Amino acid sequence: VHRSIDLKVLYFGTPVVVISSRNPDGTTNLAPMSSAWWLGQSGVLGLANSSQTAANLRRERECVVNLAPSSMVDRIDRLALTTGRSDVPEYKRVMGYQYVADKFAVAGLTRQPADLVGAARVGESPIQLECVVTQAHPIDGPDVNATAFQVHVRRVHVDESLVIPGTSHIDPLGWDPLIMKFCEFFGDARAVHPSRLAEAWAVPRAIAVAA
Ligand SMILES: Cc1cc2nc3c(=O)[nH]c(=O)nc-3n(C[C@H](O)[C@H](O)[C@H](O)COP(=O)(O)O)c2cc1C
Repeated sequence: VHRSIDLKVLYFGTPVVVISSRNPDGTTNLAPMSSAWWLGQSGVLGLANSSQTAANLRRERECVVNLAPSSMVDRIDRLALTTGRSDVPEYKRVMGYQYVADKFAVAGLTRQPADLVGAARVGESPIQLECVVTQAHPIDGPDVNATAFQVHVRRVHVDESLVIPGTSHIDPLGWDPLIMKFCEFFGDARAVHPSRLAEAWAVPRAIAVAA
């Protein structure tokens, strides 16, 4: 028996990644996100237009997608409620977001130079994808003002402990992606950490969709 209900959040469960993108001053901004999916060597990254990352991707046309294992959850949670935009959008300010210029420092993450991309990789991420932006598709709706950035993977870096010896394959048993499900964090199908984003989403508010 199914019930017809009004679902406020449609985040059914997707892996968390951290996007490294280059700011206008040459520093690297980091943003956790989970609206990412893959087809062949291409990916699609769904990003709110109000984010610093969306502005950076539009301008620089490149990024690093750093995949997050469940063991990175504490660091990811420290990045939540931060933005690289010094003019914090009002709807984010109300939710408790703060401007952070150095997200590596706030999350205790390590910069690792990329080979082909201006932004730095996240050293703690065991799977890092250097990407170019090939297209930007608008996603507009009554409650969304975002862009689906289509990216092409140019270089893949994988922690060798995850590579099946003698192959170019990742051991799926060794790879435990951090999953965001309804704003909560899961790994190995279990809740693994309290989530600041889930707490912020619990605050009643009108979602501003203007950039
Ligand atoms: C686990 C997690 C998943 C998120 N997923 C997305 C997402 O898929 N798309 C998006 O636009 N923002 C997502 N966010 C929110 C962004 O991280 C947030 O907008 C952040 O301020 C962006 O940083 P920036 O403004 O420096 O780019 C997510 C946040 C967390 C903690």
